[in-house]
Amino acid sequence: MIEKQYGIIGKTLSHSHSPTLHNFWFKENNIKANYSLIEIERNQLGNIINKIRTKKLHGINVTVPYKQEIIPYLDLIINDAKATSSVNTVYLNNENKVVGENTDVYGFEQSFINKLNVKDLIAKNYFILGAGGVSPSLIYALQKKNIKKIFISNRTIQKAENIKKTFPSIKIIAWEKIISESEKMDVIINATSLGMKNNSDFENLIKKFKTDLIYYDVIYNPLETSMLKNFKEKKIKTYNGLEMFLFQGQKSFSIWNNINPRINEELKKKIISSLK
Ligand code: ATR
Repeated sequence: MIEKQYGIIGKTLSHSHSPTLHNFWFKENNIKANYSLIEIERNQLGNIINKIRTKKLHGINVTVPYKQEIIPYLDLIINDAKATSSVNTVYLNNENKVVGENTDVYGFEQSFINKLNVKDLIAKNYFILGAGGVSPSLIYALQKKNIKKIFISNRTIQKAENIKKTFPSIKIIAWEKIISESEKMDVIINATSLGMKNNSDFENLIKKFKTDLIYYDVIYNPLETSMLKNFKEKKIKTYNGLEMFLFQGQKSFSIWNNINPRINEELKKKIISSLK
């Protein structure tokens, strides 16, 4: 019998494979729980948090567009969630407080930053495309490593300006200037939803770039956005968002269950085949 309920809340969740991930780990660890997609409107946020308070729900992930909007409904936010004002994991602690934590920072660190030789990369230029829900986590993870040259561009400049309030040292590049500025960048990170399955795609955003550029795409569905594909064909080092997805999920799972679940080839294959 299923004893515990978990899920991901967001507005449009058809792209999410979090249920496949967490239900795989529940099974592997003999935990009688189920993880589902919970599409909600803004006015249901309070209701969902009440379900956590009353233990009808035992934990949730939070995605677009509620990573910031959930905060007023929580009793406290901690650690990386506090530093980024961005929550993707919620649970009830031992003192019956509803807590918001962030595991995207960890996901980005494990999938990318911790694999780089940061000493070599510390003085380089990092260019984040997009100022949506995940961007504060990327910036914070980079800043933790003492990386200082962080640039951001967003179609709607106001959102980049909002992020700059939390991280004043980042520099904003106008969306129209991407074409001329991208040539100066050492690392380019796509944190927009451009290229996501069933979404619009890039239209030649980046034409000029360094030959030793590193390109990271937060998107994992599809595994290769057209931008990533183009770079790969030009022998640029690329990373897709699959590992970030797995590692953020791993940390959420361990917060909820006190078990650090395995990330192995079998799991990766399972997720990849569910993307098709
Ligand atoms: P949210 O912005 O609601 O937090 P998100 O998926 O986290 O949602 O972020 C979507 C990101 O992709 C945003 O940076 C968005 O830009 P806007 O802030 O201008 O909306 C970006 N994005 C989505 N579609 C885009 C498009 N067609 N062109 C450029 N940027 C786009």
